[in-house]
Amino acid sequence: MTLNIIILAAGKGTRMYSRQPKVLHPIGGKPMLAHVIQTAQTLAPQAIHVVIGHGKEQVQQQLAAANVNWVEQTEQLGTGHAVQTALPHLPQDGRTLVLYGDVPLIDAANLHALLDAAGEGVGILTDIMDNPAGYGRIIRNERGQVVKIVEEKDATAAQKAIREVNTGIFVLPNRHLANWLGALQSNNAQGEYYLTDVVALAVRDGVAITPQPVSAHHLAAGVNNKMQLAELERIFQQTQAQRLLQNGVTLLDPSRFDLRGSLKHGQDVQIDVNCVFTGDCELGDNITIPQAVLADEVHIGNFVEVKNSQIGRGSKANHLSYIGDTTIGEQTNIGAGTITANYDGVNKHKTTIGNQVRIGSNSVLVAPVTIGDKATTGAGSVITKNCACGCLV
Ligand code: UD1
Ligand code: MG
Repeated sequence: MTLNIIILAAGKGTRMYSRQPKVLHPIGGKPMLAHVIQTAQTLAPQAIHVVIGHGKEQVQQQLAAANVNWVEQTEQLGTGHAVQTALPHLPQDGRTLVLYGDVPLIDAANLHALLDAAGEGVGILTDIMDNPAGYGRIIRNERGQVVKIVEEKDATAAQKAIREVNTGIFVLPNRHLANWLGALQSNNAQGEYYLTDVVALAVRDGVAITPQPVSAHHLAAGVNNKMQLAELERIFQQTQAQRLLQNGVTLLDPSRFDLRGSLKHGQDVQIDVNCVFTGDCELGDNITIPQAVLADEVHIGNFVEVKNSQIGRGSKANHLSYIGDTTIGEQTNIGAGTITANYDGVNKHKTTIGNQVRIGSNSVLVAPVTIGDKATTGAGSVITKNCACGCLV
């Protein structure tokens, strides 16, 4: 059966208090919407239609490389209206999966399970929540069959007590879509066209409805504010940390690990706490990383130990060096064999090296010491005094 996917991403995200459209806020350094698109692609659909509205230029610009069909919803009149906006792009037959741009951690396994369970009928990804506030409630009849969904704002006190909720993710048969979406009314508490009302219409038309429980809460969790964003960020980082641990990487504290990109690694890699990896990173065999922050395009070569140091963009320490308790600026070269002598036998001291500095080979920088921008140290120097001259010392 042909599959099309619609991703709803036109909402404003008022509670993010940001100029950036909600779906562009990152999880693991990547826009939430990009996560959803990536997962959608693994289902090999005929097409992915992304409904955009608020901040549409920004969204399209940031995700220009995505192979999707952008559909503009000029007025946000509700989830049903959003799907209707994409309707002209759908074939008459097959099925359509509806995802949300602000539900970033949904995985392919749950979507496959939903598609399998729904068959040619309607499938709803559901969840059971301790605190269902804000969600649409699943209403079942005395035989346990799903008969409709009631939004929180339209719910009676008894309905509000129901803990089974709609995650928002649906699969729908295309041949009924035009009819059902055309029949939606906005005479409800929010004055919106609710996609959830298609459930009652499916019941009317005798189309089977299958509720499919999601395998874990966070996979269907939506982001409405920065608290929820931070929560999902932590869960996402934990998932990545678990995967690295399973593959043999030592993480001294998996709860203090951040990967905002990708990380290829060799054997016996050990990562200490508070390291942040951004972009596409690679670590070879037997690498230990303690509290080092390396900016983009930094080169750390063989037998270079970096400890508790920050190294700025484009700087290089390619061979046989110890960089400890040191801050290095941008485009600086640390010659082979350079040592920051940070320990006087009692206390540790800091070395500061500026931008575009050239530290000659085999230099010893006796901390505390500051080497200003554009300075050059001769090979074999022992530097014990600050230099801010920008000249050869
Ligand atoms: C919706 C569901 C609710 C479910 C909840 C799960 C409806 C009527 N309700 O409620 O049952 O429990 O999600 O989080 O569907 N959007 C558009 N265009 C619009 C309106 C919304 O693109 O005109 C997008 C939003 O950007 C968002 C998604 O659709 O990504 C959901 O919209 P939202 O307003 O958050 O719906 P809820 O009230 O949370
Ligand atoms: Mg919502």
